[in-house]
Amino acid sequence: VTSVEVALGARSYRVHIGAGLLDSSENICESLGLRGRCVIITDSHVEPLYAGRVADALSRWQPLIITVSAGENAKSLDRAEEICDRMILAGLDRSAFIVALGGGVIGDLAGFVAAIYYRGIPFLQMPTTVVALVDSSVGGKTGVNARGGKNLIGAFHQPRAVIADVNTLHTLPAREFNEGFAEVIKHAIIRDAELFASLKNFRRENNSDLSPLIARNVAIKAAIVSADEHETSGERALLNFGHTIGHGIENAAGYGRYLHGEAISLGLVAASEISVRRAGLPPEQRNEILARLVQFNLPTRLPADISTEAIMAALRTDKKFAAGQIRFILTSRVGSAFVSKEITLEEIRVAVEALR
Ligand SMILES: NC(=O)c1ccc[n+]([C@@H]2O[C@H](COP(=O)([O-])OP(=O)(O)OC[C@H]3O[C@@H](n4cnc5c(N)ncnc54)[C@H](O)[C@@H]3O)[C@@H](O)[C@H]2O)c1
Ligand SMILES: [Zn+2]
Repeated sequence: VTSVEVALGARSYRVHIGAGLLDSSENICESLGLRGRCVIITDSHVEPLYAGRVADALSRWQPLIITVSAGENAKSLDRAEEICDRMILAGLDRSAFIVALGGGVIGDLAGFVAAIYYRGIPFLQMPTTVVALVDSSVGGKTGVNARGGKNLIGAFHQPRAVIADVNTLHTLPAREFNEGFAEVIKHAIIRDAELFASLKNFRRENNSDLSPLIARNVAIKAAIVSADEHETSGERALLNFGHTIGHGIENAAGYGRYLHGEAISLGLVAASEISVRRAGLPPEQRNEILARLVQFNLPTRLPADISTEAIMAALRTDKKFAAGQIRFILTSRVGSAFVSKEITLEEIRVAVEALR
């Protein structure tokens, strides 16, 4: 078992990474001194696969399992309220703790419930998707969607620990597996040229133990979160590489067409193109970035029916743009990134057009 520390002073915690960890979560909970009852929050796809094993491992905390329908729609205030009501009905008080067992949707929803229940109770992340393992389970951003936009209601609430069982990825469908590699490729571009180079030889079928790869990504995310927990110093903004244009495309395409990572793949291509023009990224490195995305079956071309105008309109409603200045993330060389305030909407439009 590998473990990576997320250093946040009194809120520090460890990310435990290994094969088969779900069954040994008892020791971790015990070492955290958790005493009250446990609530396992999961979704309808993950529950039949893994909830029984986790409930067995945590039996001494008399787990209550709460299952929501799988999908992004679960990230709503209604669902959060329902979960709180069920916990109140079950007589759970502030001594209870939550286990978020699932992908990023469950991590965000269950983490948010943990943030607001009795004004905050402890929780553990047990991520089961690539996105959740390398990204959403670390960093303490929790929340739900508003009618007016994604992730607009939430709280920073750090987990007490992350228990990342890489074996759970074996049951993840190919599309969701590949989607997560958009974030892996992003991490490599902004922080780790060696990781980037190693991805070239990655084949899902040859990698039965994903622990080293996951640990490396967690270390990147953990270092950035430790340096800038609440996204105030700019460090954490580097994680938005590819996300400004990616979010615009995600919005313009309409919910359900692209998975998040797929839209981000297009955003990474566009941000790499702008980086060639404005930050001196060598064109061969941009080509390598494209090749890695293609390797994971991620889109690199924008279909004709998603208009540039719709994407630009989505960008303009973005809060970050309303303020006037765009904080755009660029890379001069794979393995590093920086924030630029010099990129204009017009340059973004040109880069979007170049995706055709
Ligand atoms: N908090 C953060 O910092 C952060 C960062 C990135 C993304 N997010 C959020 O994460 C969400 C996306 O997360 P996601 O991509 O994990 O989506 P998800 O949670 O919807 O999971 C994707 C699908 O895979 C299924 N699934 C999960 N684990 C499985 C397994 N081991 N085997 C088989 N099926 C499994 C799920 O039921 C779902 O159908 C978004 O809501 C996004 O906003 C949050
Ligand atoms: Zn993302």
